[in-house]
Amino acid sequence: MCGILGYIGKERALGTFIDGLSRLEYRGYDSCGVVGIKKGEFFLKKQPGKIHDLRKELKSFLEEKFPIGIFHTRWATHGRPSEANAHPHLDCKGQIAIVHNGIIENYLELKEALVKEGHKFVSETDTEVVVHLVEKFYKNSLKDAVCKAIKKLNGSFSLGVISLKDPTRLIAVRKGSPLIVGLGKDGNFIASDIPAILPFAKEVVYLKDEEVAVIRHNTVEIFHFKGKPVKLEIEKVNIKPQDAEKKDFEHFMLKEIHEQPEVLKKILSLYAKRNAIEFPYINLDEKYLKSLKNIFITACGSAYHAGYVAKYFLEKYCDLDVEIDTSSEFRYRELNITKNDLLLAISQSGETADTLAAIRDIKGNGVKIVGVCNVEGSTLTKESHGLIFTHAGPEIGVASTKAYTAQIMALLLLALHIGKIRNTIAEKDFKEMLEELRMIPEYQKDILTKTGEVKKIAKEFSKFGCFLFLGRGINYPSALEGALKLKEISYIPAEGYPAGEMKHGPIALIDEYRGVVCIAPKDFLYEKMISNMQEIRARKGKVLAIVNYGDSQASRLSDAVIYCPQLKNTDFSPMLVAVGLQLFAYYVAKNLGYEIDQPRNLAKSVTVE
Ligand code: G6P
Repeated sequence: MCGILGYIGKERALGTFIDGLSRLEYRGYDSCGVVGIKKGEFFLKKQPGKIHDLRKELKSFLEEKFPIGIFHTRWATHGRPSEANAHPHLDCKGQIAIVHNGIIENYLELKEALVKEGHKFVSETDTEVVVHLVEKFYKNSLKDAVCKAIKKLNGSFSLGVISLKDPTRLIAVRKGSPLIVGLGKDGNFIASDIPAILPFAKEVVYLKDEEVAVIRHNTVEIFHFKGKPVKLEIEKVNIKPQDAEKKDFEHFMLKEIHEQPEVLKKILSLYAKRNAIEFPYINLDEKYLKSLKNIFITACGSAYHAGYVAKYFLEKYCDLDVEIDTSSEFRYRELNITKNDLLLAISQSGETADTLAAIRDIKGNGVKIVGVCNVEGSTLTKESHGLIFTHAGPEIGVASTKAYTAQIMALLLLALHIGKIRNTIAEKDFKEMLEELRMIPEYQKDILTKTGEVKKIAKEFSKFGCFLFLGRGINYPSALEGALKLKEISYIPAEGYPAGEMKHGPIALIDEYRGVVCIAPKDFLYEKMISNMQEIRARKGKVLAIVNYGDSQASRLSDAVIYCPQLKNTDFSPMLVAVGLQLFAYYVAKNLGYEIDQPRNLAKSVTVE
């Protein structure tokens, strides 16, 4: 939520910063702004709307060069999107500028006190209190003023601060919300995430919680909030600039849907050796896995659905009980978790506030936490005992696609790994399953060739004002994910349901104006799914079925069909079904003319609770 970019160094064109900022737009896109210092003055522009609107507005300034500046793209929490509420925010005298990501929870009481002292507020945001506090405490050092100000703040915040009074320093702060320092050739950067600085910096320092950085054009110093200097831990950036580009695709979402076969191939090549599975950073030994009691899973959004699929694998192949909950609920439950249990925290970004809060709350129990994460260097990777990277590359489209199937593949490999160690999977089955898993990328490619057909189906189905997605067993989570994809980008109300539960309520919704997506691969629940489809037909519901090649029964009961290859082990089908459902959601949204990569009200990295 909210993206921050900042720079200090040799003069650079404003346009390059706007490009960088646009690579953070997935974090929020309801307003944006820039401020640079030139000839002792601020050059400030901010407005509601997207970054391409700001670029248009600043057309004649894009070549203008600045040696220092801070930039922001916003996801509104306090105050609607407007020019006044957009960042950067200035102090009363217009000499200090701030950008912020996070929430200042005690801003109201701070604001009241500052107003009484004579500070003039111009926005409805929580952020503005920070810049007035810095103004209040400023004597002769920007760093000291910032350090005094942050002592007054409750909540989560990453900040970038610059001042006309000292244009040789950029101050950065991290507490709760992510922030990195990028080390460039001719200057240094701060950013909420690596893609923003990809063309400029090959090395980064991940600020830790409660750290302040004082950044000059050729030096970076980091201090703990309590004042102690911190040693810089410099890490190499492993992402190529082209990984974060749209290439020839109309949307990032479509590009990322098409990248799935390559992503899954990569995961298999990294973790699945000839006859064993190896996770280099999992940090769990065989003795621990053999004596494991229960597994708990916590995650949000699509990651939660991937975790739900994993629950089925882990229960079936590892003979373990698996409990899963969304992180925002998990953290408040009185669960009996002990040191003999394992907690899997799944997160594409590794920055989701609820997931991080869930693992922090549970750490005291001595339970081992393994993060299943896509973003290297993210907070989850720093706070877990062990890690499984999902290697999907940067996912920019707000609706998760490749990160989701990558999570499923990684978690399935984990289940096979644990099952092998616990002797709950026979050697022969293990080999056969690995063999078939290696075919999944090719099968996904096959579904991707159906784009033309899915487009036609989507056109027909986009007229329905409400959808039910039904699945059973391991494809119940697929139904949840299919419904989530559709509502995220097309704003059509959609519910994912276990097909067997339909008769207990959702069936009341069905008539000729509702679309019902039935996930019906040929598995042991197929016959039951067919009965559900009969019930929908009898009530004139319009059915789109996801079935296997050669299917006749389900297809006969459907108005439209997306075919997937038949698997020997149907437990792997969620990775195929997902591709069909993603394409369907994408083309419905496109048909309705929506802005697919940046759906309204959403953000990709949700750093507020
Ligand atoms: C947001 C995104 C979803 C994502 C969820 C969890 O809601 O829009 O696409 O699945 O957060 O994010 P995470 O980074 O923890 O996987």
